[in-house]
Amino acid sequence: MWGGRFGASPDAVMADINISIDVDRKLYRQDIAASKAHAAMLGKQGIISPQDAKQINHGLDTILSEIESGKFRFKRALEDIHMNVEARLAELIGPAAGRLHTARSRNDQVATDFRLWIRDTIDEIDAQLATYQRALAEKALANAATIMPGFTHLQTAQPVTFGHHLLAYVEMAARDRGRFADARRRLNESPLGAAALAGTSFPLDRALSAMALGFDRPAANSLDAVSDRDFVLETLAAAAITSVHLSRFAEEIVLWTSPLVGFVRLSDNFTTGSSIMPQKRNPDAAELVRAKTGGAIGALNALLIVMKGLPLAYQKDMQEDKDGAMQALSALSLCLAAMTGMVADMQPDAERMKAAAGAGYSTATDLADWLVRIHKIPFREAHHITGRIVAAAEKAGVSLEQLPLVDMQRIEPRITKDVSGVLSVERSVASRKTYGGTAPANVTREAKKWLKRLGKTA
Ligand code: ARG
Repeated sequence: MWGGRFGASPDAVMADINISIDVDRKLYRQDIAASKAHAAMLGKQGIISPQDAKQINHGLDTILSEIESGKFRFKRALEDIHMNVEARLAELIGPAAGRLHTARSRNDQVATDFRLWIRDTIDEIDAQLATYQRALAEKALANAATIMPGFTHLQTAQPVTFGHHLLAYVEMAARDRGRFADARRRLNESPLGAAALAGTSFPLDRALSAMALGFDRPAANSLDAVSDRDFVLETLAAAAITSVHLSRFAEEIVLWTSPLVGFVRLSDNFTTGSSIMPQKRNPDAAELVRAKTGGAIGALNALLIVMKGLPLAYQKDMQEDKDGAMQALSALSLCLAAMTGMVADMQPDAERMKAAAGAGYSTATDLADWLVRIHKIPFREAHHITGRIVAAAEKAGVSLEQLPLVDMQRIEPRITKDVSGVLSVERSVASRKTYGGTAPANVTREAKKWLKRLGKTA
């Protein structure tokens, strides 16, 4: 298709490095949609005849159904998706096919196709993130009052509720959705009509083809339109951050399901066995989600590095934008499905969680707060008194609740028997009812708010 001035065919290696059909065939739907929009606009503007426009449109529909039914034969000799479609169009409708490429280049074509593909993918990921949030909010509602230890430095810190912990991931997913939505808003401009790099002498109506493809407007600068890959970078950045969130949760699932911790059990549906150790129940899906994050971060890095040295406008380097991005986004989709499945599947061991929540003097802060509230002792001093009481309990080998009142009073005479009311893990979590706190009442309210906002389960 570009052979006019060439006397010989490319070397086999030249062809191998150049060919992109194995990757960009995934753009077939977007490529055909963009060609249809372009042809209709050419017809409307009188740049090609109405009959040619109609034939092209019809031929493209035929190609779409050929591809979707698996009848289409992709040819490596035709390099990429654009030339595969156009060559087949020529077979189907003859010379009129040759008019489709009027006022167009593969440069604005591929920029358009990939924007559309990324936009479609963002919409799919957003729907999956919403489903993941729903699964989390449902599990949170069911576990609004399930008590577990909260950690800082992975040391028992204060009791929290399992529902509250799960809702933290709902918030993260909400920000992830916001980042994808931002990327989508900015990418939604049409490169079509930028042609190779400079625009075209034909009287195009760029707004018309842009509208037909659901773009908000045509891109304002032809050089930028064909050479911008920010839309891929931004989407990969959003994907990398989302993956990091999933990975943190996956790591917690691995930890929680370890017999050493035993907070959560996954069923046979989301675990695998060992070929040698019959007792094993491995959280492979969580481990793989954690590992696949490397691919997402890698894809973002790889494309940043591809782009960083490129002068305007289109450079062939940009052909390398698709493979990594497509793989990373499809891995993210799989990870979201796996995490959603695991959230629904996981069963907390409430007894074990609660016992762990009470260990490690986790209500020491509640004791200090009580001294501040009841006896108006400055917090710093209350902290010191409580520290001494914890040391005494530790020495006696008992919990704060079990430490006899007289032992506490030896350290701080103002302490009365009323203090026992704040030392239980139930009282501790119930008292943290400021906005954003872990109290069961808050969790119930927030989980319901999310479920209402997210709509019914699909
Ligand atoms: N396969 C190319 C890509 O993905 C399409 C654009 C080719 N343009 C060109 N001038 N060779 O970037």
